[in-house]
Amino acid sequence: MNDSPVLRVRNLTRRFAAGVVLKSLDLTIERGEFVALLGRSGSGKTTLLRTLAGLDEVSEGDVQVSPESTVVYQEPRLFPWKRVWHNVALGVRTPDARRRAEAALGEVELAHRLNAWPLTLSGGEAQRVALARALIREPELLLLDEPFASLDALTRTRMQGLVGDLWARHRPAVLLVTHDIDEALLLADRVLVLSEGRLEADLRVDLPRPRDDGETRFVHLRRTLRTALGVTDKQAIAA
Ligand SMILES: Nc1ncnc2c1ncn2[C@@H]1O[C@H](COP(=O)(O)OP(=O)(O)OP(=O)(O)O)[C@@H](O)[C@H]1O
Ligand SMILES: [Mg+2]
Repeated sequence: MNDSPVLRVRNLTRRFAAGVVLKSLDLTIERGEFVALLGRSGSGKTTLLRTLAGLDEVSEGDVQVSPESTVVYQEPRLFPWKRVWHNVALGVRTPDARRRAEAALGEVELAHRLNAWPLTLSGGEAQRVALARALIREPELLLLDEPFASLDALTRTRMQGLVGDLWARHRPAVLLVTHDIDEALLLADRVLVLSEGRLEADLRVDLPRPRDDGETRFVHLRRTLRTALGVTDKQAIAA
């Protein structure tokens, strides 16, 4: 499936007892494409990601996802009784698993914490280990569900840069769920807005990288996305 998209969703509907969360949703992601997904809390972003990751059944619609996809969650989900490199190498069955774990940890600037226990890591370090654990699988599609949400602003900015660099180096397709409009605009080729169960906006970010958040076109795209999300300027300042 070399030129085929890494992800193709047609007519996906997901209902819970309380109502319909995803309504006949369509989405295609091409190889190497970086897509960000925005949406208000409760709009169904995690539900969509869980479905794409195969963690949730598909009862209505058609979902085709590259088998070589991995997920990174908001929290790192490391096993505390396994050393860092072992967490990264988990499930890698080749004899060079340790060497590959070392290489992946090097890419997230954690080569020096190879033998550390997860509980001795900072939040940002633990999240980088989670990224290394995804990278070692050389995924065609990386599903990221608010991977920086619990980090402080400075660490978050560094992590954004790191994800941008890793993407540029390895070129997996990425679907990044985030609440942060600027994060979406700094990193992605396309920004989607999920609202009322549908993709209300699908915006191409036609800006060269690295991006400047003060640049006129960036500011214009930010305003367009705020409107699509129904965020007023007052709410944006409060957030
Ligand atoms: N297993 C479940 N059973 C019942 N309802 C669910 C279940 N999972 C999610 N929902 C409901 O589906 C809706 C969408 O939830 P989801 O977690 O996908 O939102 P989200 O966009 O990821 O929100 P957030 O930005 O807060 O993470 C919510 O109303 C939620 O209560
Ligand atoms: Mg969520």
